[in-house]
Parts: sequence; C-alpha cells; structure tokens
Amino acid sequence: MSEVAVIGAGTMGSGIAQVAATHGWRVRLVDVDAAVANRAIERIRGQLDRAVERQRMSASDRDAALSLLSAASIADLGGCELVVEAIVEDLDVKTRILGEATQIAPRTAILASNTSSLSITRIGESIGCPERTLGMHFFNPAPVMPLVEVIAGSASAADCLERAVEIAAAWGKTPVRAKDTPGFIVNRVARGYYLEPLRMLDEGVSGVSEIDQILKTLGGFRMGPFELMDLIGIDVNYSVSRSVWEQLGRPARLQPHELQVRLVEQHHYGRKTKQGFYSYQPAHPYPAVVVARKSFELPDDVYKAVRLFCQAGTDESGSITEQYVFARTLAAIINEAAWALDGDVATAEDIDTAMRLGVNYPRGPIEWAERIGRRTCRHLLDTLNRHASDGRFAAAQWLRT
Ligand code: NAI
Repeated sequence: MSEVAVIGAGTMGSGIAQVAATHGWRVRLVDVDAAVANRAIERIRGQLDRAVERQRMSASDRDAALSLLSAASIADLGGCELVVEAIVEDLDVKTRILGEATQIAPRTAILASNTSSLSITRIGESIGCPERTLGMHFFNPAPVMPLVEVIAGSASAADCLERAVEIAAAWGKTPVRAKDTPGFIVNRVARGYYLEPLRMLDEGVSGVSEIDQILKTLGGFRMGPFELMDLIGIDVNYSVSRSVWEQLGRPARLQPHELQVRLVEQHHYGRKTKQGFYSYQPAHPYPAVVVARKSFELPDDVYKAVRLFCQAGTDESGSITEQYVFARTLAAIINEAAWALDGDVATAEDIDTAMRLGVNYPRGPIEWAERIGRRTCRHLLDTLNRHASDGRFAAAQWLRT
C-alpha cells in the first residue's frame, strides 16, 4: 500500500492527510508531538462523520480512511514514497525538519513542500536533495479545493515531478505545473484583483460595496475583492502581496497599497476581527472604509478603450464608471497572467485552470484575453499607462504578439 508522511498537522497538513487517507493511502501524520497529530486526526474524524451524516460518504469508507491515519514521528518514515511538509512558513524550520526526514525516508522518496512563498530550489539545496524536492501547493481547505500546483525547483527531477502530478490526480485533485517563481501561479496572478480595486477606492472612483458588486455583476466573480480580502484576512493578503512584490523586484504594478498597511496596523484584519473593509458588528456587514467619492471625467481615449474592452469582456451592460472599474481590474489580471507567460511560469492552459480552480474565477485570464482580443487588451493597457505616473500598466510581451 502507498504510504505518505505529512509533516505539520495544522490547517493544511490535516487537510492533506484527510485527502490522502480518503484516497487509500496510509498516512503518517507528524507534528511537534503525537498529541498534536492525534488532535488533528480527531478533527478529521469529525469532518468525515459530517460527510457520512450528509450522505456524501459511506460509513465503511469513513472507517477505512480513519484506519489509514496514524500519529507518527520522523523515525517512522522508513516506508514512505512521499513526504509532504506543511509546517510553519519558516525556511530554517522547514529545512531542519525535512533534513531529518531525508535521513529516515527511502532514498527515492519525493520531498514535497506545501510552502506558499518560499523558494523550492532553496529548500531543495538546503536539505541537500534538490532533485527529489518539489512543491505540492494545496489550497485551503485542502479536502474541498480541487487545485494542486506542482512546483519544479531548478534541479527537480522530471520523474519526481511526473509522479507528483500522478499522485495529485490519484487523490482526486487537478494538478497544474509551475516553475519555482514568487507566488507560483495563483498567488501572483490574483494580485490585480486586489491591488487595482484598492487603488480605485483610494482615488474615489467608487466605494467598497459598489466595487464588489460591479466585479460580481460585470465580471461574474463569485466574491468581490473587498469581501474576499476580509475573508482571507487582510494581514495574510498583505503579507502575500508584499512577499510577491519584493521577490519579483518591486515592480510598480504589484506594489502593496497604503490602505492595506493602515488596516493591518489597526488590527482590522477582516472577518476574524469583525472589522476590515466591512464591519461585521453587530451582524450585517456594512462598508467600514469610507473614501471620499470624487466625480471624475474619463479622458476621451480611456473612455473609448474601456468601451471597446467591455464589448467583448462582459455580457453585462453598465455605466461607464462600472465598466471602468471592471476593465481596469480585469486588464491588470490579464497583464499579470501575460507577464507570467513571458517568464515561462506555466502554460496558458495551466494558468487558466489554476485561476478557475484555485480562486474560482469564472474564466481563465488567458481565455478572457483571447476572447477580448490581445490587441484590445494591449490598447487599454497602453492607454491607461499614458495616464499613470508609475508605468504600472506596461503591457507584457505576450500581449504584443
Ligand atoms: P498551521 O500553523 O495551521 O500549521 C503548522 C503546523 O506545523 C502546526 O501544527 C505546528 O505545530 C507544526 N509544526 C511547527 N513546527 C514543527 C516542527 N518542528 N515539527 C513538526 N511540526 C511542526 O499552518 P498552515 O496554515 O497549515 O500552513 C502550513 C504551510 O502551508 C505553510 O508553509 C503555509 O505557507 C502553507 N499554506 C498555507 C495555506 C493556508 O491557507 N493556511 C494555503 C497553502 C499553503
């Protein structure tokens, strides 16, 4: 029977353990001590019990999955084909623990990290097994989210990557392949969905709830950017923004926004503190970040470029302000996806799959760009760029071909 060790039994590790066990893999769950891992197994039991109650799983499948899970220590890794690390996001801790695991696990075992922001190449080099190290980036909650980004470090062996893709698929997930670059696919390409709305809010183009509504209506996004930041946690979202921006050399288009910093300083993290872009007190959310609305007139060239972009970009009609909000946001997302293509981060198909399954976009950004027309996307970006002082709308090469 195939065996996996999951190290780190927190939010992600316990989710990954549940996924593996429900797909017939024996799981050794390792944390700082057996009590933590056992508590995680109890949480998994609770999840599976609920699945049985809702008739999504049979009682015998639940029992079979639970019988495959056990709390373990690093010393028990001798039979594992795969080690998945989901420990705290700290390179030194990950290196130390994975380094110990390599001493015990078989010499052929694949060493996968679930890191969101650390370099896979660096982890592989630090533990002295760069060929067997790769990323398997699951999304939260792991039992529900269908996507796994399989990340190739610069020395990851092709057969290990192939096997990781096979395992993710055998666990019922949709794997996409990505190069080891900051934010991989999803955490990078999604930046435009947060940053451009933040800038428009600050410019007084529209308010929090209006921008959310516009993107849901015109774009078909399931949640608006401010609702989503409140759900993810403004602190978490800001730290991802900052990390991707810094690691990519601080390009203006990815610069985190002052409003994020201010909310983090005030400990207004969103739903978890009951205050973020919305207030959740007493119960009904209402916009909590108030920005002076300005009446503005779009320059003629921007007006025309927005109208043209929206003709193919959305089936919904809207006022010019609504179309402007939608067009600026979608153009930023498309441009980031195009920059990722320029950098060979992933194929167009994998970028689209990742954005549909990782963050529920109604369409992949590359498919959207082709539907609108690369020339029309580039025309909007060039026009916006002429009016921007920081050059952040500079179009990627892919949009110029
Ligand atoms: P968490 O804080 O819920 O769990 C981390 C676990 O690691 C804890 O149970 C902790 O006791 C354990 N741990 C710490 N030091 C350890 C050690 N020396 N030996 C064994 N276990 C140790 O963290 P979470 O959210 O599950 O994140 C884990 C990893 O997954 C991080 O690298 C994070 O960046 C990544 N990730 C997190 C996502 C999320 O939405 N939470 C999404 C995708 C990736």
